[in-house]
Amino acid sequence: MKIAFVGKGGSGKTTLSSLFIRHLAALGAPVLAVDADINQHLGPALGLDESEAAGLPALGEHLPLIKEYLRGSNPRIASAESMIKTTPPGRGSRLLRVREDNPVYDACARPVELDGGAVRLMVTGPFTDADLGVACYHSKTGAVELCLNHLVDGRDEYVVVDMTAGSDSFASGLFTRFDVTFLVAEPTRKGVSVYRQYKEYAHDFGVELKVVGNKVQGQDDLDFLRAEVGDDLLVTVGHSDWVRAMEKGRPPRFDLLDAADRDALRLLRTTVDTAHERRDPDRYTRQMVHFHLKNARSWGNERTGADLAAQVDPDFVLGEGVAAAV
Ligand SMILES: Nc1ncnc2c1ncn2[C@@H]1O[C@H](COP(=O)(O)OP(=O)(O)OP(=O)(O)O)[C@@H](O)[C@H]1O
Ligand SMILES: [Mg+2]
Repeated sequence: MKIAFVGKGGSGKTTLSSLFIRHLAALGAPVLAVDADINQHLGPALGLDESEAAGLPALGEHLPLIKEYLRGSNPRIASAESMIKTTPPGRGSRLLRVREDNPVYDACARPVELDGGAVRLMVTGPFTDADLGVACYHSKTGAVELCLNHLVDGRDEYVVVDMTAGSDSFASGLFTRFDVTFLVAEPTRKGVSVYRQYKEYAHDFGVELKVVGNKVQGQDDLDFLRAEVGDDLLVTVGHSDWVRAMEKGRPPRFDLLDAADRDALRLLRTTVDTAHERRDPDRYTRQMVHFHLKNARSWGNERTGADLAAQVDPDFVLGEGVAAAV
């Protein structure tokens, strides 16, 4: 299951992503954690110290390796250089699975020990000004999009992406790659305006958007969020002493998390699990092709000097039943 945490800067995306990842790990579920936010804080939020976090390999720096591996023997993709972030898999492509070892994880993922078990962590690497343009060829999140478009994941396997709600994910198709998108919103006008913007973009793509209210104190905050986002409000989280202790570098055992926060995390998981039955591999594949053609037309063809529409394998559908293709 592919899950995104998005929202305004400082709303609590990293905090809630990391709590959800810890929750899943404590249940023994396989988790791939991905930091795709402009501010790269997921590693520290999962307990890595500064030097460990700084030493994580950046996905953005391994794009040639990722492309070469995923391309496999797909005859429609002549070279790794002709592959852009939206190039879809087809027959012959290599696919990624949550529970496996592969050269992409070897190069780009690191295990992080949490209470209950280890998760894999991948990070895009820090963003620079040059990364933040529209439809940027070298966009760091491009590596994430490529991986998600080549990932086959089942009901009890989780890929949790800490992401920003910025224009980068809308310029590409990244925002459509998730089974559930949790929009983290503080009970403020700004927090809610990011929700509206996201909802509008997502509207035509069947994105399952659920609002997680954060730093919600009391009835007035709750009433505000309810009035502003209506039924999209899934749950709210208050101020967490556990999180505050972690910020001080003294993370308590995870089972000491507040009961109310644990209930909230359970609800997130139930929401993700029930989204499984609404999965639609045809639509998922159609959307990746849609964004690929759009990117090809707007900059990809020109940049690579090839007609990238020819990369689309019309008979290929990415779903759980897809045969391992090499
Ligand atoms: N429920 C909470 N209880 C206590 N502190 C919280 C809570 N949620 C977030 N915080 C604190 O608020 C700050 C911002 O949270 P966080 O870093 O998770 O936000 P973010 O959306 O990822 O921000 P950025 O856009 O900078 O990546 C952090 O110091 C975090 O510890
Ligand atoms: Mg963050």
